[in-house]
Amino acid sequence: MTTAPAVPRSVTVRVPAKVNLELRVGPRRRDGYHDLATVFMAIGLHDEVSVAVGDEWQVEVVGPYAPLVPTDGSNLALRAAKLIAERGAVTQPASLRIHKEIPVAGGMAGGSADAAAALLACDHLWGLGLDRDELSQMAATLGSDVPFALTGGIAIASGRGEQLAPVLARGSYHWVLAVSSTGLPTPRVYAECDRLRRGTGVAAPGPSPLIMTALRSGDAQALGRALANDLQEAAITLQPGLRQVIDAGLEYGALGGIVSGSGPTVAFLTASPEAALDLCVSLAAAGVAAEVKRARGPVHGAHVVTAPALD
Ligand code: C5P
Repeated sequence: MTTAPAVPRSVTVRVPAKVNLELRVGPRRRDGYHDLATVFMAIGLHDEVSVAVGDEWQVEVVGPYAPLVPTDGSNLALRAAKLIAERGAVTQPASLRIHKEIPVAGGMAGGSADAAAALLACDHLWGLGLDRDELSQMAATLGSDVPFALTGGIAIASGRGEQLAPVLARGSYHWVLAVSSTGLPTPRVYAECDRLRRGTGVAAPGPSPLIMTALRSGDAQALGRALANDLQEAAITLQPGLRQVIDAGLEYGALGGIVSGSGPTVAFLTASPEAALDLCVSLAAAGVAAEVKRARGPVHGAHVVTAPALD
């Protein structure tokens, strides 16, 4: 006698934050986006998204940043779950629970991470068995950073950030993240970047070989020197205190410091876990950031951690 495969009652997916090691921004396109050349690294600061079959579509958010996350129809993870339900012709609603550890509006793709996690979790919950390419295509319609949250590791991205190619790299890197008390909306930072560059010719973006060389040889010192972000000046114009944060981290011995993505989180690269801990203590004592965290990278992208089966 054969038995039907067990259908999981709920599925939990763990998903990482990202930093951009390099972010080159081209001119504004007709669709409002900007062509990018960027290098993403997934780092060990995670959200967890659990999905279960429910009576109605709903999302609950827990964790330190929960009050900052919308729980209405605009929630990106809920939108992701509804999108994959439509794709799989699933009529049963799902109930989502997000444990949020990634700062909100921090330039670390926290909302995108939750959307990627919701796609993967729902795929497992409903046994749809979509392959990574299908999930990635759906991810790109939800946001530019969502495909990378599925993939993780280190990737070079083009287009608006959704076209990915994996990067071969050695070593593990130790980051310190200085989190601001106030988020920065991504569209505002891109608009400010356009404003600051008005009247100057903006070339098509291209990645520099410095980052690739540093990653291939696992050279944290060289990587620290090569960190670059075209959105950094815009983020600093909108939150001038970020300059002081970067200066403090470099003064306390970071190998490099950069605004992460559209900010305002500042990511510092350090030489070792001990150096990261020292830098955390120094930055916390200096009181330049609302919160200071440590994370290692690269780490894997979204992955299922629990999928208990029905008995
Ligand atoms: O793709 P996503 O929804 O995450 O993008 C949020 C906003 O960031 C966009 O509406 C746009 O203003 C800006 N953006 C951009 N160019 C990109 C990615 C994002 O201008 N490549």
